[in-house]
Amino acid sequence: MAVHILLLLLAVSVATADEDAFIGANIGTELSDMPHPTQVVALLKAQQIRHVRLYDADRGMLVALANTGIKVAVSVPNEQLLGIGQSNSTAANWVSRNIVAHYPATNITTICVGSEVLTTLPNAAPVLVNALKFIHSALVASNLDHQIKVSTPLSSSLILDSFPPSQAFFNRSWNPVLVPMLNFLQSTGSSLMLNIYPYYDYMQSNGVIPLDYALFKPLPPNKEAVDSNTLVHYSNVFDAMVDAAYFAMAFLNFTNIPVMVTESGWPSKGDSNEPDATLENANTYNSNLIRHVLNQTGTPKHPGIGVSTYIYELYNEDNKPGPLSEKNWGLFDANGDPVYILHLTGSGSVLANDTTNQTYCTARDGADPKMLQAALDWACGPGKVDCSGLLQGQPCYEPDNVIAHATYAFDTYYHQMRKDPAACNFNGVAAITTSDPSHGSCIFPGSLGKNGTMANITAPSLNSTISDSSAYKIYGSSSLRSILTVIRLLVWGVVFL
Ligand SMILES: *[C@@H]1O[C@H](CO)[C@@H](O)[C@H](O)[C@H]1NC(C)=O
Ligand SMILES: *[C@@H]1O[C@H](CO)[C@@H](O)[C@H](O)[C@H]1NC(C)=O
Ligand SMILES: *[C@@H]1O[C@H](CO)[C@@H](O)[C@H](O)[C@H]1NC(C)=O
Ligand SMILES: *[C@@H]1O[C@H](CO)[C@@H](O)[C@H](O)[C@H]1NC(C)=O
Ligand SMILES: *[C@@H]1O[C@H](CO)[C@@H](O)[C@H](O)[C@H]1NC(C)=O
Ligand SMILES: *[C@@H]1O[C@H](CO)[C@@H](O)[C@H](O)[C@H]1NC(C)=O
Ligand SMILES: *[C@@H]1O[C@H](CO)[C@@H](O)[C@H](O)[C@H]1NC(C)=O
Ligand SMILES: *[C@@H]1O[C@H](CO)[C@@H](O)[C@H](O)[C@H]1NC(C)=O
Ligand SMILES: *[C@@H]1O[C@H](CO)[C@@H](O)[C@H](O)[C@H]1NC(C)=O
Ligand SMILES: *[C@@H]1O[C@H](CO)[C@@H](O)[C@H](O)[C@H]1NC(C)=O
Repeated sequence: MAVHILLLLLAVSVATADEDAFIGANIGTELSDMPHPTQVVALLKAQQIRHVRLYDADRGMLVALANTGIKVAVSVPNEQLLGIGQSNSTAANWVSRNIVAHYPATNITTICVGSEVLTTLPNAAPVLVNALKFIHSALVASNLDHQIKVSTPLSSSLILDSFPPSQAFFNRSWNPVLVPMLNFLQSTGSSLMLNIYPYYDYMQSNGVIPLDYALFKPLPPNKEAVDSNTLVHYSNVFDAMVDAAYFAMAFLNFTNIPVMVTESGWPSKGDSNEPDATLENANTYNSNLIRHVLNQTGTPKHPGIGVSTYIYELYNEDNKPGPLSEKNWGLFDANGDPVYILHLTGSGSVLANDTTNQTYCTARDGADPKMLQAALDWACGPGKVDCSGLLQGQPCYEPDNVIAHATYAFDTYYHQMRKDPAACNFNGVAAITTSDPSHGSCIFPGSLGKNGTMANITAPSLNSTISDSSAYKIYGSSSLRSILTVIRLLVWGVVFL
């Protein structure tokens, strides 16, 4: 028994180690209705997403991410790569403007220099390694090189003959760039960044890759892919690709560079010629991917070495050109509503979908004004709702009518009663709805706010009267949530921190 407890403690302490693999989210911004940075951050917090990758170094986002504890990977966009790779002072300026100005309030941990440069912008290839070095030197000059790592996300299409993984190698045409790049990554303790898309591998395989193998679904043993050289069984495409990267690096004599997956995901909707871009498959892939990464299983080549992964992507990007699938890689829509509910039972606290099913209690349409007034009086009196926000000059005074005021009081009471449906009745003049009645600076209990900022709900003290302004946090569903969070964090060893 004692041995078991010891093992358990060891397991927990390993799970809390800094180098544990994490799940993050990529934040693409090609939305017609891109949420305000504070809304983005509110979503990240509600969903307990502790790691994000930006495709640039947007000032608004970096400011909104300050003091949140969220770890941030920022990017040098491809458009800026030529300038930075050709001039160390341009690189130094970039670092001072986009990194030094925000660190440490914003916990920038990683700089991605360009995105799939060799495959999408080959003419910048000759300056890629210089760009990495110049950015790194600027970090050294600011004494930030230990806190912030520099690398460049590669397309997995650079890895040829990726199955069996033990025979994989990088496209040799790129060795003149890749060898000095790997030298740089090795000497700076950085990761090889790889974008892995089993969706495309599956689509392009013409039936050779079974869908289940791409989706991490269990395969019968006779269907598992076996590496004939190592006799290792691969049960999913993701692991095979990561191991292919390890072998491709080993082929160039680099054996101690970890792999980080900067993009992976599955689209939830596609054109008629993309029949496997479905809600069901996207949910299965991302749910299994998250569980797989957080389980710290590692890959057959490096068991127990987890592979940190940024999911592609946080939002559906409706402005993306190309096939319908391109617009549908997101976990959430622009309102922050989940596109699907991940199956994450037992996988800890990430993507807790807490923001779904947000409900409010409002005055019923066409309710008798006298009955509303009576209910309002009761709520602000015996009901112990803090109605000070309804006083003249306060945020919820306007519109000054009984329907609006009653709605505010009803909703506050309802949240005070932990959204018990029975608390939203008021003699039949109240009704539960899912649309947020907040307006202007009048933020309702339960609301994520106009900017997505969590409502700072105040509830009455036990001695409260209408004009009592003493502020106590409401013990609505959020207190239960935070207790659950604490438990999850304890159980899961703060893997996202
Ligand atoms: C850029 O490189 C030149 C020549 O190597 C060096 O003298 C200069 O200090 C560097 N500047 C910065 C900002 O690193
Ligand atoms: C940033 O995150 C790293 C990695 O978890 C952590 O070690 C460090 O203390 C954090 N830095 C700040 C300034 O919060
Ligand atoms: C290897 O890279 C070169 C240069 O981009 C490209 O022309 C060639 O098609 C690639 N080879 C394969 C097999 O993808
Ligand atoms: C890797 O190392 C081996 C043994 O030291 C050497 O023979 C081989 O040429 C090296 N390969 C590369 C690509 O540097
Ligand atoms: C982690 O993976 C191992 C091996 O696949 C499996 O036995 C175990 O149940 C998984 N644990 C969790 C928590 O998913
Ligand atoms: C997300 O919501 C679904 C449906 O309400 C629930 O079954 C699931 O446990 C939730 N996931 C997490 C991680 O809380
Ligand atoms: C919302 O709540 C309803 C009723 O409680 C439930 O049937 C539904 O699955 C929930 N939806 C989500 C997305 O959690
Ligand atoms: C919303 O954002 C705007 C602009 O940043 C700011 O002026 C306003 O105070 C914010 N409102 C809330 C409720 O946070
Ligand atoms: C919430 O209210 C408290 C006390 O009034 C204040 O200190 C805190 O800054 C507020 N938080 C937000 C996010 O507005
Ligand atoms: C409530 O009133 C009692 C007696 O007047 C006082 O002792 C107590 O501190 C008050 N409690 C709060 C939370 O204001």
